Amino acid sequence: MPLPPVHFFSHGSTMMLGEESKSATYWKQCGDEALEHKIKGVVMMGAHWDARGTNRIDVAMNPNPAKSPVAYVHPSKYVDYKLVPDLPTGKRIVGMLNDEGLVARGNETFDWIHDTYLILIRMFPGGCPPTTIVSMNARFDPHLHARVGSIVAKLREENYLIIGTGGAVHNLYRNHWWQMLRHSDNFAMPVPPEAAMLEFRQSVEDVFVRNCRAGMKKGALVNGVTRLMKHPQFRDAHGTDDHFMAACFVAGVVDACEGVADSGCVLGAEDWELVNMCNSQFTVGNWVSQKA
Ligand SMILES: [Fe+2]
Repeated sequence: MPLPPVHFFSHGSTMMLGEESKSATYWKQCGDEALEHKIKGVVMMGAHWDARGTNRIDVAMNPNPAKSPVAYVHPSKYVDYKLVPDLPTGKRIVGMLNDEGLVARGNETFDWIHDTYLILIRMFPGGCPPTTIVSMNARFDPHLHARVGSIVAKLREENYLIIGTGGAVHNLYRNHWWQMLRHSDNFAMPVPPEAAMLEFRQSVEDVFVRNCRAGMKKGALVNGVTRLMKHPQFRDAHGTDDHFMAACFVAGVVDACEGVADSGCVLGAEDWELVNMCNSQFTVGNWVSQKA
């Protein structure tokens, strides 16, 4: 049975929900492929929900989650989309995390945020698959988040699609907001991105693509991705750590899964937004090569 690929997606600004882009087309393509292969569900870590406390991770267990509203997107693009929380899988994940020494608990009041449902709407416009959202931890330790990925990784063998949704280059303090606020144009690039953003974006691509190929040492992707937080341009590219945790989570999933990295990582699509935000979409492994 072919096993699912693993995605690290950069969700960008809220306008990525309402505007067409290469990323949106790619997300839909990934969703179509997942449905063709009859995924059992989706497991996601986003960038907007963190649990406070040492080693604490929350898992979304609200049976009827609302959607937090999103700015600069017409409500018709999201208000009627029905979210489908996967409570049995959520309960299982709480158990899996606790068994490995984390302090996990179900959260029955959490409402979903655009970092996750933006991606779900774009991937699965015809209907949300059963989905489990796993929180970040508020200390933003990259290794802890990689570990969370390594613990849930085994769900991939049951045909769950595992997704991290954060950002490759995502610093709201460095974005140029005027074109969006004045003209609703999130893709305007009146000037080129700053050098630090270009440099860090390239490093993210290099780390993902070059550490995912046959013959790489076990743990190579986690080592590379977590070390990116010590990159000289990391703080330029990420004013806060939150949007990089999903990359660490994905790296943990990949390194814990036998063989997925051997079939490579592709940069499936990319869009620059607001001058300095780079929305790179990475997929490790693929359905086709794993049929062999
Ligand atoms: Fe975000």
